[in-house]
Amino acid sequence: MGDARTEQSLPVSVLQLMAAACAVSVRVPPTRKAPVSAPLTRSTVLLTDYQAVRDETERLAAPLSPEDQQVQSMPDVSPTKWHRAHITWFFETFLLRPSLPGYVAFNENFQFLYNSYYEAVGDRHARHERGLISRPSASEIGEYRRHVDRAMARLIDEVASEDPAVEELVLLGLHHEQQHQELLLMDIKHVLSMNPTRPAYHEIEESTADAVEPVAWHEYEAGLIEIGHDDDSFAFDNEGPRHRTYVAPFRIADRLVTNGDWLDFMADDGYHCAEHWLSAGWATVNEHGWESPMYWEPTERGWYTHTLHGFVPVDRNEPVCHVSYFEADAYARWAGARLPTEAEWEHVASQLQGASSSDVTGNFAHTGRFHPSPAGPASSAIRQMFGDVWQWTSSAYSAYPGFAPAPGAVGEYNGKFMVNQYVLRGGCCATPVAHTRTTYRNFFPTHTRWMFSGLRLAADLPKEATS
Ligand SMILES: [Fe+2]
Repeated sequence: MGDARTEQSLPVSVLQLMAAACAVSVRVPPTRKAPVSAPLTRSTVLLTDYQAVRDETERLAAPLSPEDQQVQSMPDVSPTKWHRAHITWFFETFLLRPSLPGYVAFNENFQFLYNSYYEAVGDRHARHERGLISRPSASEIGEYRRHVDRAMARLIDEVASEDPAVEELVLLGLHHEQQHQELLLMDIKHVLSMNPTRPAYHEIEESTADAVEPVAWHEYEAGLIEIGHDDDSFAFDNEGPRHRTYVAPFRIADRLVTNGDWLDFMADDGYHCAEHWLSAGWATVNEHGWESPMYWEPTERGWYTHTLHGFVPVDRNEPVCHVSYFEADAYARWAGARLPTEAEWEHVASQLQGASSSDVTGNFAHTGRFHPSPAGPASSAIRQMFGDVWQWTSSAYSAYPGFAPAPGAVGEYNGKFMVNQYVLRGGCCATPVAHTRTTYRNFFPTHTRWMFSGLRLAADLPKEATS
């Protein structure tokens, strides 16, 4: 749900710190601490990470003109300029104002303009009217970013190096900014799609992959498994507590559903057969007149789709992208299968080499494609578990057993969003590679499809099949 998903799942320790930050945001800063005599290695590393993440945001925005950065093409989309300012506001609000002695805010109006929905921080501009903020200019937002970056360098050196809680909050700010880097890309994709001249964000090399083979299935036994985050690495609070859960015997596809698969569904009148659809899905598909995934358009030369590299023919081998939960669920039913649960997905993903921690690989943003790629050659391993497209699961987004929202004002960042949304897993071609992990839970409402969303199939197995 746009940036709505970005600030509702924070580590508990950070939430407590943010509660404190909110409470002291208007007080007079305490006396400045004496500078540390020599930079600590940890602060040097943190500053390097900080600058790398901040630079990446500006690199992603660089191809966009000030006019591009102004547009809000629908309520869920935020202008690029707003993203660049809001993630800067986050550092200013939760770190610099409460924790850096002597910090002078760049512009007090920005507290109102760039607060997304933090009730504890105060009033804010309406989300659906962010495109009306023509001033400050994109250039001035650049100045704002540099102002905050200079102060953050001082905070990391003088404060974070001595206060682990502040250091952890800096880390949260970086993960928050990475989430918005993905949002920036999916939002500008929608913005550019509304321009009749079909502008491209960038150019990429055409895919030359061989035809993708039919799906192969991997079987898993029933049993009590464990899912959820539980080590010392960074994770959002919605990824825990780690807990046991039961899975019945199931099988799961070795690759994502492709555009070719989806064209077969369309050719079989999939969008017009009520039997495949949930009731709410059937109402939604008819209300909007959906006949294909988002961004697809019929032409005299066949189906075309809008991408960040322009208006191109639909490639049968690429994973289908920009489908809603309702469409993914209907496709799975048509195919005689179902969506995996998030427990099944994590159980499978955690057994892949390199996936036991945040060390995952795939077609993420670092490839520079920002577009899903065909699966590689079939092998004994499951493919495309990470990257390419977020994978819808059949699991409603809700609290894990033992999850407890932080008390007080910061409770708004957690449990209040755990309703009417479904979980997606695996990251996508616009996700920073260092940002996701096996336990990462993304979530969107059932009708949304402007994010890079796709699916893989799963199915039940008879109990005797794995006994
Ligand atoms: Fe945000």
